[in-house]
Amino acid sequence: MTRILMVCLGNICRSPLAEGILKSKLPKDKFIIDSAGTAAYHIDSKPDVRSIAVAKKYGIDITDIRGRQFSRNDFNDFDLIFAMDESNYHNILKIAKTEDEKSKVKLILNEMTPNENLSVPDPYYGGNAGFENVYKLLDQSCNNIVSKLNSKTYS
Ligand code: 4NP
Repeated sequence: MTRILMVCLGNICRSPLAEGILKSKLPKDKFIIDSAGTAAYHIDSKPDVRSIAVAKKYGIDITDIRGRQFSRNDFNDFDLIFAMDESNYHNILKIAKTEDEKSKVKLILNEMTPNENLSVPDPYYGGNAGFENVYKLLDQSCNNIVSKLNSKTYS
């Protein structure tokens, strides 16, 4: 099993979408995909209705996902941890203890545009167009993640 965690701030907009998109592209018997938020604001909440809607538009159902907060256990439970933005990335690294833990953490848009350290814009305070944009960024990044997993490029 390869275990992959998507992380944003609230775990209701970006990371549930990333979870649903990557799940739709990988076989269930070989991959565990989950998501979490660095903040505790939305524990047990459903994804934002706008994330649910854009996922549905592309044939993906994320209604069963419930918000949870990132914890130190996640460094043991996952092989790869993709942060949605630089703030999440630094907050995760702050609680990493070993080099092995740190090496699991990556900025997801570097899968699409390597080394540019771009962030998935937080769509929470915007309209539906922001969610469409997030979907497209994550879909492309997830396609590249799948290619790298298939060619075993991740160390
Ligand atoms: P997310 O978006 O990190 O993509 O889930 C947000 C959701 C909620 C809040 C901020 C960002 N909030 O402040 O409640």
